[in-house]
Formats: sequence, structure tokens, C-alpha cells
Amino acid sequence: MCGIIGYNGKRNVKKILIEGLKALEYRGYDSAGIAISDGKNKEIIKSVGRVKALEDKVNNESKMDGLFGIAHTRWATNGGVTLSNAHPHTNGKVTLVHNGIIENSDSLKENLKKKGVKFYGDTDSEVVAALINYYYKGDALKAICDAVKDLEGSYALVIMFDGDTKLYAIRKDSPLIIGYGDNEFFAASDISALGNKVKSIVYLDTNVVAVLSQKDIKYYKDLKEVKEKIVDIKNYNFDTSKGEYKHYMLKEIMEEAQLVRCFLSKYLYSDFSEFDLTPYKYIDIVACGSAMHAGLAGKYIIEKYASIKVSVNMASEYRYEDKIYLDKEHTLIILISQSGETADTIAALREAKESGIKTLGIVNREGSTIARESDMVIMTDAGIETAVATTKAYIMQVLVLSLMGIKTSIKIGKLEKNVLDEYKKLPSLIENVYSKKEEIKDLANKVYKIDNCFFIGRLIDYAISMEASLKLKEVSYIHSECYASGELKHGTISLIENGTVVFAIITDKNIKDKTLSNLKEVESRGARGILITTDEFDIPYDLKLTLPYAEYFIEPMVVVPALQLLSYYVADLRGCDIDKPKNLAKSVTVE
Ligand code: AGP
Repeated sequence: MCGIIGYNGKRNVKKILIEGLKALEYRGYDSAGIAISDGKNKEIIKSVGRVKALEDKVNNESKMDGLFGIAHTRWATNGGVTLSNAHPHTNGKVTLVHNGIIENSDSLKENLKKKGVKFYGDTDSEVVAALINYYYKGDALKAICDAVKDLEGSYALVIMFDGDTKLYAIRKDSPLIIGYGDNEFFAASDISALGNKVKSIVYLDTNVVAVLSQKDIKYYKDLKEVKEKIVDIKNYNFDTSKGEYKHYMLKEIMEEAQLVRCFLSKYLYSDFSEFDLTPYKYIDIVACGSAMHAGLAGKYIIEKYASIKVSVNMASEYRYEDKIYLDKEHTLIILISQSGETADTIAALREAKESGIKTLGIVNREGSTIARESDMVIMTDAGIETAVATTKAYIMQVLVLSLMGIKTSIKIGKLEKNVLDEYKKLPSLIENVYSKKEEIKDLANKVYKIDNCFFIGRLIDYAISMEASLKLKEVSYIHSECYASGELKHGTISLIENGTVVFAIITDKNIKDKTLSNLKEVESRGARGILITTDEFDIPYDLKLTLPYAEYFIEPMVVVPALQLLSYYVADLRGCDIDKPKNLAKSVTVE
């Protein structure tokens, strides 16, 4: 939920750290701070608000250059959004930045207070600094190893010690990578902070301490030197600019057609075993938010064509449920995650592995925890997704699930192999949606002033509605609620008043008339219906957005981009901070 970065090298430390924070800001933007040192003197500058506020403060107040430093952009988990709770935190000779949650910080703080330790804020991260300082008798490595033994919870830490010219990095359950540049070394929450400054990286293993000096990096586990696998990343796509787009969200929606084209060129006719679901009788899809909605769309496709029972589960619920596996050997648990670092989804993955159940990750970030710990992985290849509201990664997740369903269906003889050719139409169908952007803008102009609305649909149209509703509310702050259209009359219809906007999604011909009649039910009570449908149907309707028809297993990837654009234009008309909506963070790496 927070972004951390450390740098040890010969270049402008402050500039590099601030640049890194800007690339990490999507992980949280409540407050930010930086600590730099030359080995003798140290300077700490913090600010509430965005990284830009910190940059201005550093430019006005900083009195030194420094040789190395650490920096942090925060998404508040415990402790309010205040200057005293902004990182870096310092205690005695220790200064650090932290991403994660220490679940036993209250008891640790009480014990340290009894030993005379003073605190100035109310975060768990400050407790970690105090604990390391408590153990520090001159040996930094030993102090860190002793301290983390007392910690319960998740942490990614980059630590400085007064009088020491090295940086120390360690992680457990929160992401942290180590980067190798030209005689300069980095530690960061994720690769986007390093840009094209590094040629290779290390995905730091749990509780391995990386020691970044001015000339090299060494690794230690339980005080013994170890080797870590260095990964070459020269081909990594670092293009994280907005280009000619006003927002990352729009840029990322407009990338979808080409991303699908590239993905299909690699996987459409391949026989990667990861896409083959024939060994399984039961599939549990486990994810959060939009990733869970992608799973919902995939469920309908896999059940219809591969005839395998699929359950879709919110990871935050699933991880605590009493599990009943009907046939462990023939069960697959699919974890879907753009970041690969969502705490609830990771927890579900680890529980599945402890239960001996096969796991498959559908992930967008190489080297992420879910990518590394799943038994099998399919990368969605959507590139870096900077806007907090996911768009292109969601489309790629649905594409993966759709291909799994159809490829499995071909394998069991339900469909002919040439059905795969249908997918080749998808990129141009999405581009057709792009060509409707003026029509979508017009619709946005008609609705952007509303305070609340409903999305209704049935079956796969319900899955589409779930994602459309979340996208609208998270970027425009309109209170949007999704309802299975047949369920509305069992209570929630009481909220329908004159002018209540209800979007009805109709793409599935098998339930078209049912949803239409639900739309008429709400209109008879004053609702303002808006029909989102395809050109397969000729439904006379006043407010309507007609999208290109596609096969059932492709249609969601045509309709959702249109609804992503609708949400984008509505939010833009409302003057919202589209790429960084309030209260959100891109990767929910804490419970
Ligand atoms: C994305 O628009 C949402 N903000 C959010 O629901 C997201 O999909 C969810 O947090 C899961 O993230 P993940 O895919 O990185 O696991």
C-alpha cells in the first residue's frame, strides 16, 4: 500500500529518490518523506500530501546532497495522515521506511516504552525503528535480524544507521526488489520506481538482508552470507509516461486492442498446458475487486464451454472460510491479481498450497509474490498499469480465462479448433469501440451530474455490470450499485425514485427479454433507463449505447472497454483525480 525506495550511488540522491517516489505514487499518496546521508550528517524532510509537495519542500529546505538515502510515499493503514506519521521514521541511530502492517506493534510499543523508549507518532513503522535501535549495539545486521524475530505481520524495510554508509533492506510478505545500476544500487517496492536506471534486479527472498554499499550489494540470511538470483531485465518495457493522453487511465484503455493483439499472437494457437483445464472437476477462482469481476466473467465462459464447475470468491472472505473440497486432487485454485501482491489473495494462495491443492496465478507483474509462489502462472502481459483503477489488466485477465475455457472445450471435443479464429476479431472490435468515443462522451454528458445509479444484468451481463459499476464509482465517486436484474425487486427496488439512473446490460440473447422486463419494472417506478447492448439486437430505446456483437466468450472484452471509457469521461467531467482516486491505492498489500 505504500511505495518505498532506497538509493546508494554517486548521482543526485534527492533527484533519484523523488523521481522514484513519483513512479511509486500510485501505491499511496497521503504523505511522503525522504532521508539522505553522507555517512556523517543526515537530513530528513517530510510532507503531507502528494510527492510534488515533498519535492517543493526539499527544493526549498534541503541543506545537503548526501551519498545515499531512502524515501517513502504513504497510504495510511494505522495512524492518521499527519506529518508525524509520515515516513521515514527515526529512533536513536536508526532511520527507516516501511511498507506493510506489523500486527503486534501495540505490544512491542508498550514493552519498549517500559524500557524508556520515547515515541512521537502512532504508526507501527516507528515501532520497528525503535525496536531495531533497541537491539543495535554497533552491528546493524545483527540488530535487524534480532528485531525482525519479534515482528508479526508484513514488512518491506529499507534502513539507515547513523555513521554507516550502507543501506539495509529486508522483506516479509510485502514486495521489495534490489536493483543494479552502473555503480549504483537500489531497493524499491517495484520495478517501476527504477525505470531504465537498472540492468538487473533481485527479487529479495523472505528475511534475507540486502546490504547496499557504495560499491556492491551483499546478502545475508541469519547473519550468514548467501547468494540471491540476479535477473536480467534489459527488455523490460519502462514506458510509464502518459504520452499524449490526459490521464494514464485513458492511455491504458487505448492500449487494450494492441495488447490483445500481442497476447493472441503468442498464445492463441499455442498449447501451453497452463490453459488446459481438462484435469480438473472443480475450479475456485479467488481474487479481489476488478480481478474478482474478471473471474466472474470467466466463470460463465468456462462453465458454458468447458463444463467445469467454477466458484468465484472474494479473497478476503475465502481465506477465512471453512473449506470443503469435494475432490482435492481434481481441484484447481486460480488466483487472479494485477499486482500479484494483494495480501488477501496471497493468503488464499498460501492456504491452498498448505492444503495440497494445485494453484494457478493469472498475474500482471513479473516476480510478484503470487507469480513466484503459484504452482503455475499465466502472465497477462498488460505492461505497467499506473492508473489506480484497472482497465487493461482486467481485459487481459478476462482474455486469459476465456481462452482457458475455449481451449479446454476444444480439447474435450465440444468445439472445433477453428473457433479460435473468432478471437482474431477482438482487437478490431475494441478499436470499433474506440471509434464510438464521441457517442460515449455524449452519454457521459447526460449522466455526470447524478449522485447515484444502478447497473443491472443477468449471468455474464451481471459480471460485466459488476465491473462497470465499480469502475464508475471508484473514479467518479458516483454511488453506483450493481444488482442481478432479477434480484432488484426483492427489496432494493424500494430505492428507485423519479429519475434514478439504471444502466441495463444486455448482450446475452438467452436472457435478453428477462432483463428488458426488469428495466421496464424500474422505469414504471420513475427510473431513467439506459440500455447498454449490442448490434445483434434491434431494441428501440431512448438512451442506448449499441456496441459491436461478438461471440459470447468474447463480448465482455468488447463491452467493458466502452464502460471503462464512460466512467473515464464521467469522472473527467466531474473534475475528479482520475489516476489517483481518493482513499485508493493500486496494490492492497495489507489486509
Ligand atoms: C481496480 O480498479 C480496483 N481498484 C481494485 O479493486 C483491484 O482490482 C483489486 O484491489 C485487486 O488488485 P490486484 O488485481 O492487484 O490483486
